[in-house]
Amino acid sequence: SNIPVITIDGPTASGKGTVAHKVADRLGFHLLDSGALYRLTALSALRRGTDLRDEHALAKVAEHLPVRFNGGHIYLGTEEVSNAIRQEEVGNTASKIAALPAVRQALYGLQLSFRETPGLVADGRDMGTVIFPGAQLKVFLTASVEARAQRRYKQLIDKGFSANMDDLLADLQARDARDTQRAVAPLVPAEGAHILDTSQMTADDAVEQVLAWYAHP
Ligand code: C5P
Repeated sequence: SNIPVITIDGPTASGKGTVAHKVADRLGFHLLDSGALYRLTALSALRRGTDLRDEHALAKVAEHLPVRFNGGHIYLGTEEVSNAIRQEEVGNTASKIAALPAVRQALYGLQLSFRETPGLVADGRDMGTVIFPGAQLKVFLTASVEARAQRRYKQLIDKGFSANMDDLLADLQARDARDTQRAVAPLVPAEGAHILDTSQMTADDAVEQVLAWYAHP
């Protein structure tokens, strides 16, 4: 496919979701929040009481997600779950089941189907390395663990959840370790990726940088 793709990969709470969303808006591109698919699988499994060690059963859940995206809102069946999937328990479960090859395989085709004209911005961990290795632009967005914990704290409070900074730091470190050390699709910068450290940067600065790289490869 020669439909343009921009991949934005990075650790949790690096700001890639916000940046991907804004870049997609500016270019009029579609958006793939691949983390949401792992979160939806986790939420669905938690609710069905699926055994979280049963890779085959989890892959089945992923394969049959009744998911619908509608203008920034995410539905599982008829229920809106945009906020529910952002809970820490769901994120932690997502990060565990994302280490299972059969789950990743089950979500592969669904992710490819987001590549539609006029273009796609895809955010996640393995967008540039595994899902869209031929992307026109690959970005690895990162930030210090402290900056990311601050952002996650603010996000949770703004959404009306409670949050504790020490717990968040510990969770982020655990999740980073799982995401970077797993055998399948570990979090690493893709070949040819531009590295962007946003610790001292606003989301808008990061958006401008990504757009500049896209305009002047
Ligand atoms: O990005 P987000 O925090 O929403 O992703 C939730 C979890 O899903 C991550 O911790 C990661 O383990 C997993 N994930 C993944 N591959 C992706 C996107 C997310 O393994 N492309």
